[in-house]
Amino acid sequence: MAGSTLKIQNLHVEIDGSEIINGLDLEINGGEIHAIMGPNGTGKSTLASAIMGHPRYDITEGSVHLDGKDVLEMEVDERAHAGMFLAMQYPSEISGVTNSDFMRSAINSSREEGDEISLMKFIKKMDGKMDELEIDQSFSQRYLNEGFSGGEKKRNEILQLLMLEPRIAILDEIDSGLDIDALKVVSKGINSMKSPDFGCLIITHYQRLLNYITPDKVHVMMQGRVVKSGGAELAQRLEEEGYDWIKEELGIEDEKVGEQA
Ligand SMILES: Nc1ncnc2c1ncn2[C@@H]1O[C@H](COP(=O)(O)OP(=O)(O)O)[C@@H](O)[C@H]1O
Ligand SMILES: [Mg+2]
Repeated sequence: MAGSTLKIQNLHVEIDGSEIINGLDLEINGGEIHAIMGPNGTGKSTLASAIMGHPRYDITEGSVHLDGKDVLEMEVDERAHAGMFLAMQYPSEISGVTNSDFMRSAINSSREEGDEISLMKFIKKMDGKMDELEIDQSFSQRYLNEGFSGGEKKRNEILQLLMLEPRIAILDEIDSGLDIDALKVVSKGINSMKSPDFGCLIITHYQRLLNYITPDKVHVMMQGRVVKSGGAELAQRLEEEGYDWIKEELGIEDEKVGEQA
């Protein structure tokens, strides 16, 4: 199915009764790579988790649609099944489940019964993708993320992306903790997904990833909303000048800066 569209309208999200996202609009079409940038604590990770259905996040207003289907009505596994993927800022470690088993069941859970990927095909695909991402083959038998370094976890998220081939991916701070070689490998992996059937939202607060992945659109998020959108040049300007000029332009008071990155 060509041309997936993720459409977010007037989204409001609360955590424990306080509003973190307040009236966010965003539309991502197949074939497009979008980047969201913004200061710490402005709600970027909250946006990602809320869209994927994390139970902690209350959506109090607004809508999220994937190809016209109401995402907020879907269970978490249905969202994945529908082709949505989230690479988390802090991937969880799952002891007792190997990376290989995890990926295979993730692939099969989005396929119909009787249409599971064969073991041979799976191994061949996983080997190939691991080579592409320069991940040592021993990682397929390691427990998911357990004892992985920060950079190894990020690479492994991209391995999941390449294995699962979602229609819409949200990549939260996929560049954090990566050295320059890993950054190049991860970028190459993301770029290899580029197709009319794939839309991508990259959340980052550094411009450097965008030296390797050219976004079609860049959005600035502040105080729980998209306050400015532009092309790749917007990311460049943010890198050089920070966010103050946007605050001035929009008459925004100083952000309350959160603890978390
Ligand atoms: N589970 C949570 N419980 C309470 N507050 C949270 C939780 N998650 C995020 N927040 C708060 O929501 C705000 C936005 O956080 P986050 O979405 O992680 O920001 P960003 O990813 O833009 O740095 C911060 O003030 C943060 O402290
Ligand atoms: Mg974050």
